[in-house]
Amino acid sequence: MKGIILAGGKGSRLFPLTKITNKHLLPIYDRPMIYYPIQTLVDAGIRDILIVTGGNYAGDFLQLLGTGHQLGLANLNYTYQEGEGGIADALRLAEHFADGENVCVILGDNIIETNIREAVQEFDKQAVGAKILLKEVTDPERFGVAEILNGFVVNIVEKPKDPKSNYAVTGIYMYDATVFDKIKTLEPSQRGELEITDVNNAYIRERSLSYAFLDGWWTDAGTFDSLLRASHLVSESRKKPA
Ligand code: G1P
Repeated sequence: MKGIILAGGKGSRLFPLTKITNKHLLPIYDRPMIYYPIQTLVDAGIRDILIVTGGNYAGDFLQLLGTGHQLGLANLNYTYQEGEGGIADALRLAEHFADGENVCVILGDNIIETNIREAVQEFDKQAVGAKILLKEVTDPERFGVAEILNGFVVNIVEKPKDPKSNYAVTGIYMYDATVFDKIKTLEPSQRGELEITDVNNAYIRERSLSYAFLDGWWTDAGTFDSLLRASHLVSESRKKPA
């Protein structure tokens, strides 16, 4: 399976921190944010990785990461998202890289405590479709929220005012090669973006979306509070004995 890290966007919820850099280069405790999703993929056994970035500071990723050598990689791939088309629009740019293989997609601001290797291996055995990772949260209105019925995800709503559950859809997704055809059918949402939630709902309509619950803590880092929380969580887990 190939890995794709989505690290574009303006990071407008973090202004002025993101006025002169990309959100994914901001520090989370002792490392730049982008190190964490790379590590998540590497720990899951995924070595063939594409970073999709954008905006004015894309060159800084190359300067920081180079070939990915410090993170145990022999090579890293990069591409550039023009404009602010959203997560699914950024993923669209990975079609050539994926080249018909399954992909594990991770949002560059999603930081997790544990290893996703088991879920990745489960998806390898799943013949077709997609797999998402869920996490129970106290503030589901901030996320895509999964409605589960009889053990199946039957619908996902992006940032619902009245959430049907506390199960947030984390920013870690596994897709077969049909994901790129699904993206081509999408229309922009009210926020003017191609939504990853619409991609996942397309798989639900085909009855080919599986899910697992993520162990350990999970956070995004796209707001001041979650950015701070991410640093605290990482610092605490560094202090835990291995
Ligand atoms: C995005 C997705 C949302 C998901 C979240 C996870 O939200 O649209 O479904 O739950 O990432 O971090 P955004 O960061 O665009 O607000």
